[in-house]
Amino acid sequence: MSQKLRSQQWFGKKGKDGFIYRAWMKNQGVPDHEFAGKPVIGICNTWSELTPCNAHFRELAQSVKNGIYEAGGFPVEFPVMSLGETLMKPTAMLYRNLASMDVEESIRANPLDGVVLLCGCDKTTPSLVMGACSVDIPSIVVSGGPMLTGKYEGKDIGTSDIWRFSEANRMGTMSDEALSLSEACMCRSRGHCAVMGTASTMACMVESLGLTLPTNAAIPAADSRRKVLAHLSGMRIVDMVKEDLKPSDILTREAFENAIKVNAAIGGSTNFVLHLLAIAGRIGIDLNLDDIDRLSADIPLLANLQPSGQYFMEDFYYAGGVPVITQMLGEQLQNCITANGKGIRENAKEACCYNEQVISSLDKPFKPQSGIAVLKGNLCENGAIIKPSAASASLMQHTGKAVVFEDIEDYKARIDDPDLDVDEDSILVLKNVGPVGYPGMPEVGNMGLPKKMLEKGLVDMVRISDGRMSGTGFGTVILHVSPEAAAGGVLGLVRQGDIIELDVPGRSLQLKVSEEELQRRRSEQKPNHPEFDRGYVRLYQQYVEQAHLGADMAFLRGKSGSKVSRDSH
Ligand code: FES
Ligand code: MG
Repeated sequence: MSQKLRSQQWFGKKGKDGFIYRAWMKNQGVPDHEFAGKPVIGICNTWSELTPCNAHFRELAQSVKNGIYEAGGFPVEFPVMSLGETLMKPTAMLYRNLASMDVEESIRANPLDGVVLLCGCDKTTPSLVMGACSVDIPSIVVSGGPMLTGKYEGKDIGTSDIWRFSEANRMGTMSDEALSLSEACMCRSRGHCAVMGTASTMACMVESLGLTLPTNAAIPAADSRRKVLAHLSGMRIVDMVKEDLKPSDILTREAFENAIKVNAAIGGSTNFVLHLLAIAGRIGIDLNLDDIDRLSADIPLLANLQPSGQYFMEDFYYAGGVPVITQMLGEQLQNCITANGKGIRENAKEACCYNEQVISSLDKPFKPQSGIAVLKGNLCENGAIIKPSAASASLMQHTGKAVVFEDIEDYKARIDDPDLDVDEDSILVLKNVGPVGYPGMPEVGNMGLPKKMLEKGLVDMVRISDGRMSGTGFGTVILHVSPEAAAGGVLGLVRQGDIIELDVPGRSLQLKVSEEELQRRRSEQKPNHPEFDRGYVRLYQQYVEQAHLGADMAFLRGKSGSKVSRDSH
């Protein structure tokens, strides 16, 4: 096998070149036999103290290493750009494509035969998977795991409570002291957000795509079994190299269809749409928004997890996790091959649901409606999305007058203004928060309600934007409007008082303004978003695709493969 190993094109060489490749590695205390034809496995690590959700990854990497050694591989850990959701401005999403380029080029340029992707916080999963797909050497994902459930004043809390607490604080029903106390209660252990937010959604996505060992998604970060999974994944990648089991073998169209169905059943984040489409674009699978709507339409919501339900990822793990969902969906899923070499349904054969409160069944689902509905209409010609399970049933068909905010600063300046022209039926419209317009498409789509309306006891209103929403967010929030305002979308032409008609069952979103009037407004329209003239952000603004395509950069679609390039010296 050593003849076929990529790494042997470095370490298997005689003379000056081989000397250089090996000698500098030896300064780390690596003995000769590590270079003698063992599979070299990269551990692609997103550890960073600026990504708190991934701050325990050095320990996790050690468990992976132990497994690789045990199976006869040679592990080499390397860092890549780490995207922390909470600290990065203007939004970690702006850098997802950049991190994916880092991952892709780091893997391809180095003597690696296989790679373990250590993923945690929201964007770290798609960026690593996108990059690995564009190289397509054997790859396995190990997620960092969710935090333990937060505990505050005897109650279970998680990230979704930030939205509730901050509204309570704005209303004066929660004091500043109480709010500050709740901070440490929410994030009380290592790991990523403990609800079915984007990080958990991504962990479930990679498990349902088949890129991980079974049960990867839900084991809490603090649970010792997380390390066991990391160890076993390290062992398994060595065999994956021997079997030459690559992402393109696992990520078939059927695997994407499975992931869409599982995402519906767990009430996964709306960000799933962007990341799944981007991954499909890298591996060369033709997938679009309509597939996501169609395939999730008949799947009920099985998991009772926040933000769509009540429980947390810890509860999900104890109830049996993704394998139980897989088993319950049964024949609706195809038995696609997964990282352990077995079919996904075969892996779930022994699964058992230990808590029907947390994971319900197809006969008695937690909610009949789930998934992600894709809307079309003159306001979103290429589509917009809404997550019905996290929205208000009473607003699924709704007509109201637009209250328009030109950008996020405009929203912040006026939302609590007592003179804001808004009523109970109004629809809040936020422009210029799309991929190009912000830039980077931040999670501001679930904008808070006007104080005036909160005081009237209103808890939800229809909100529309070209931005995203945190996977932990909820409400009747229409997101990812494409084309975005900054790319000439009709969203940019909406004016205060225009009538908007939403019909989720009919999958339609219409601005009730005549085509002549829209043409007139278009001729008066001036760009109203920042434009960058240097660096990565310039590249991003120039090449980023719209949300309905996954917001990857056009030139990153597809793969360059794993061919070893020309010599360096
Ligand atoms: Fe990292 Fe929520 S902030 S997962
Ligand atoms: Mg997020």
